[in-house]
Amino acid sequence: MSVESIQTRVERDTSQFYSDGRLKHFLTIEGISGQKLTELLDLAQSFLVVEHRAIKKVPLLRGKTLVNLFFEPSTRTRTTFELAAKRLSADVLTIQSQDSSTRKGESLLDMLRNLEAMAVDLFVVRHAQSGAAHFIAQHVTPNVAVVNAGDGRHAHPTQALLDMFTIRHFKGDFIPLRVAIVGDIMHSRVARSQVQALLALGVQDIRLIAPKTLLPRTRWHPNVSHEWELQHGLKDVDVVIALRLQNERMQAGLLPSPEEYRALYGLTNDSIKVLKKDAIIMHPGPINRGVEMDSDIADGARSVILDQVHFGIAVRMAILSKLMEGSDREAAKL
Ligand code: CP
Repeated sequence: MSVESIQTRVERDTSQFYSDGRLKHFLTIEGISGQKLTELLDLAQSFLVVEHRAIKKVPLLRGKTLVNLFFEPSTRTRTTFELAAKRLSADVLTIQSQDSSTRKGESLLDMLRNLEAMAVDLFVVRHAQSGAAHFIAQHVTPNVAVVNAGDGRHAHPTQALLDMFTIRHFKGDFIPLRVAIVGDIMHSRVARSQVQALLALGVQDIRLIAPKTLLPRTRWHPNVSHEWELQHGLKDVDVVIALRLQNERMQAGLLPSPEEYRALYGLTNDSIKVLKKDAIIMHPGPINRGVEMDSDIADGARSVILDQVHFGIAVRMAILSKLMEGSDREAAKL
């Protein structure tokens, strides 16, 4: 199936779009065209300068209120969403699961209704349950936008977008690239969203590298190959993305031991020799050093892991401002 036909198929899922194609929510990369992703990347590029100003703020979301709802641990996503919203001049609240009344038995929907009563404009949601952000998006009042900050094994679309920004920053054109994703693909919401984004942006050679027990059961797309031999999979690759072993989502018996995983699939000075000379090495974080990759690699010259974190702020500013632009135009029609 071609990239175009995949895009046509998934664009029937219009739940995150207004009828004229503008973004209403940001729940999944699925269904967002390469052109729309590129527009978001360009908008993010324009926000990079904000951090160099004496006052690191623009007034685009002044008067708006954003609530970060985090029901799972997070360092990067939660803080960069907070910073992105503050740099857009929004008022920001963060609620983490341990502080919320859901711990006392309140339902997610009741919690949502109470927060909506405080005139919130945007919810950013991380949840261990796949589909949680979609559920919230179905139940919020019109003109309230929902961003998926990672739901179960399903999707992590803002991570994928910041990864695409990082790849474009270092590599330019997507079409000729060979991209390898190494690790726990089976349990990874990040891998799913990355592959959707890479396909939408025209990448023709995507390799998923993992033990057979951690690979998807079927191929996602003809341009996505499965490899279980690391050296073969990494050969002449431009971009390597290592993924964390998600022990919290694994059933017993999928892996012999972290030591054996490192020996067969870890990024080490030896195993990366087959990459292209100018290849970049990425990881969404958090890293298990000495398992997915050695410290020499994580902190080495080819690593762009901290660039990913840095670019995450501008990319999240782009998503939030795009959603509020759509919401304001809808509100004007009421
Ligand atoms: N990449 C990522 O989602 O990291 P956090 O869990 O720290 O947010």
